[in-house]
Amino acid sequence: MQINVVNHPLLQAKMTILRDKDTKSVTFRHIISEVAALLTFETTRDLPVEEVKVTTPLCETTGCRIKGSVTVVPILRAGLGFMEGVLSVIPEANVGHIGMSRNEETLLPMEYYCKLPADMDAYTIVVDPMLATGGSAIAAIDQLKKRGMKNLRFMCLVAAPEGVEKLNAAHPDVPIYTVVLDDHLNEHGYIVPGLGDAGDRIFGTV
Ligand code: PRP
Ligand code: URA
Repeated sequence: MQINVVNHPLLQAKMTILRDKDTKSVTFRHIISEVAALLTFETTRDLPVEEVKVTTPLCETTGCRIKGSVTVVPILRAGLGFMEGVLSVIPEANVGHIGMSRNEETLLPMEYYCKLPADMDAYTIVVDPMLATGGSAIAAIDQLKKRGMKNLRFMCLVAAPEGVEKLNAAHPDVPIYTVVLDDHLNEHGYIVPGLGDAGDRIFGTV
């Protein structure tokens, strides 16, 4: 199984608050945004840079800037919960949107929206807090590749082993970054221990 679990005390402590069933939406939204910013740090560790000259108050030296552009694609709707955090650390990123809804009975994803930036060569981060059966992430990445996007990576909060195996098999070129790798899926396709329905918890719907 190929997965990058970002095991940092700040992330793991915040993750515990997100798991708590008594955490209200207002806190959940705030914390998920902080987690997204911290996780972006690790997910972008291999971001390409180019050398530039910079003049400090004392002398000229060399520094760097990000080479090329960055695109972030949240999978609607729960992926939106990551956006404030991701954009707080990469404010210049372009944002694409892809809407995927998981049928509660069949657990199969259905695409209902897709709008992407023009730069298909951008370094692209697909974001969704939950990787459960893997169906939504695989279908979203299928569509992004079909539309010409390259150099993709997937960033989530909670991953189930079942989803990781499926996503690795379907898209071996797409690295996965997560805060936690949980135990299993229950009979309804929910991640255990998980945190429940991420979209409902972010948006206060039931
Ligand atoms: C949730 C979640 C993922 C998907 C994960 O979305 O945000 O997109 O389920 O499950 P999977 O790996 O089994 O496909 P959902 O379809 O509930 O929609 P929402 O974001 O609008 O709540
Ligand atoms: N989607 C969620 O929001 N939570 C799960 O546990 C599984 C899928």
